[in-house]
Amino acid sequence: MAEIRQVAVIGSGVMGAGIAAQVANSGVPVVLLDIVPAGAQNRNVVAESAVAKLLKTEPAAFMSKAAAKLVTTGNIEDHLPLLADCDWIVEVVVERLDVKQALYAKIDAHRKPDAIVSSNTSTIPLHNLVAGLPDSFAEKFVITHFFNPPRYMRLLELVTSDRNSAETVKTIADFCDYRLGKGVVRCKDRPGFIANRLGVYWLQVGAAAAFDMKLDVEDVDAIIGKPFGIPKTGVFGLIDLVGLDLMPHINASMASTLPAEDPFQAINATPALVERMIKDGYTGRKGNGGFYRINREAGKRKEAIDLATGDYRPQKKANVEVLSAAGKSLVKLLEHDGVHGRYAWAVISATLSYAALLAGDAADEIESIDAAMRLGYNWKFGPFELIDKLGVDWFVARLEKEGARSPRSCARRRGGPSTASRTATVRRWNSTAPTRPWRVRMACCCSKTSSGLPSRCSRTARPRSGTLATACSASNSPA
Ligand code: NAI
Repeated sequence: MAEIRQVAVIGSGVMGAGIAAQVANSGVPVVLLDIVPAGAQNRNVVAESAVAKLLKTEPAAFMSKAAAKLVTTGNIEDHLPLLADCDWIVEVVVERLDVKQALYAKIDAHRKPDAIVSSNTSTIPLHNLVAGLPDSFAEKFVITHFFNPPRYMRLLELVTSDRNSAETVKTIADFCDYRLGKGVVRCKDRPGFIANRLGVYWLQVGAAAAFDMKLDVEDVDAIIGKPFGIPKTGVFGLIDLVGLDLMPHINASMASTLPAEDPFQAINATPALVERMIKDGYTGRKGNGGFYRINREAGKRKEAIDLATGDYRPQKKANVEVLSAAGKSLVKLLEHDGVHGRYAWAVISATLSYAALLAGDAADEIESIDAAMRLGYNWKFGPFELIDKLGVDWFVARLEKEGARSPRSCARRRGGPSTASRTATVRRWNSTAPTRPWRVRMACCCSKTSSGLPSRCSRTARPRSGTLATACSASNSPA
């Protein structure tokens, strides 16, 4: 099998610099190139400044100063010939198809024939990236979607095409897994891949329902957080972390690439309050604050925004009676008749139903969807693991009671040991898109012992595609 001994990263921004550092951390030399700014005296200034900045970044991007020495900086006007020595060339430039494609033509002119080329794009489908490029280039081209920061976020989404050889796929997957320590999850060539497709949907649903129900942000984050194994940032804390201003861009990109019948389209709206906050510089932690803020004029008082009035008030301790009433039972929480129980059900049912819709669309294996959410969003359980925890029978029955059409594409074992294992999960669903998020037709809730099931339900679960080689503790972040 081909070996990756030298890497080039083109684009030294937030992601490119971090990816170069992680390659260097693995002991592999890396060339980091960026543009030459107009009138620059130092033609390598962009890439050099990126490395200098990385050396001061906390948490550290480099594992050691020695690793930093493995990075050679340069620019794309003078140093493209260096690509001839690289076995993997990673494109990490701005998210514009025209810019990326113009760069690919230059890369193709300099790369060695067996070099693998990948893009770190978060949204542009692979088939668009290679459109019009020679077959010899497309055969070596994949998407390697790192999460931010690349050293600490464990997920790497890998999108390949049927033009790639098995050897190309194995070479890049193994390098990212064993050398870079990423959990490599194979995704299909669909908008947002897996983690951001589901994660952004979940955030949108969580925020929209909280606005509708006029809830307190602290209560929302306490409900849609720890009880479900989701980081305590919950919904609003995570939006503050990502940046309120980034969300409308991510949403617009999803909306423009997903089909009209995708449930995401129905929830793609930015509340007037959020528009106002962005305009006033309340873009989250990087700005004046977001749904939460520290009010320095009031002695660094912690405050939270009131979703109904748009005014800040002192942050309070979450006061969610449903959590104590439910104890550790997620079913009791979701069945609770109070406003918080109804909120939890609205968000969790829509999110899990959307996850069911992604199986077969964003990934072939439900294990990939679970792994992507665990590794990319730091969820303790993937969506299908959550369905198993709730009990597939209970979940489907509740959906049906709410008006979802009955599962019909294959048998369901009511009363069986449906929560016994991860394999006892929704495996198939009908291809007809739901009109409401939860109107997905859940199907085939088979138990682990699948004997007697219709043949189309009894595919054996394959091993997980996400393999984890490092443990780390970064916060979750979509992009
Ligand atoms: P950025 O804006 O921080 O950096 C982009 C870099 O590309 C800049 O240094 C710019 O000078 C350089 N550049 C622009 N045109 C170039 C060209 N023709 N040749 C060489 N360099 C060029 O952007 P960021 O955030 O690092 O994003 C880069 C890519 O990674 C995008 O495709 C983005 O969608 C993706 N991504 C971003 C994530 C994030 O959290 N920021 C997470 C995952 C993926």
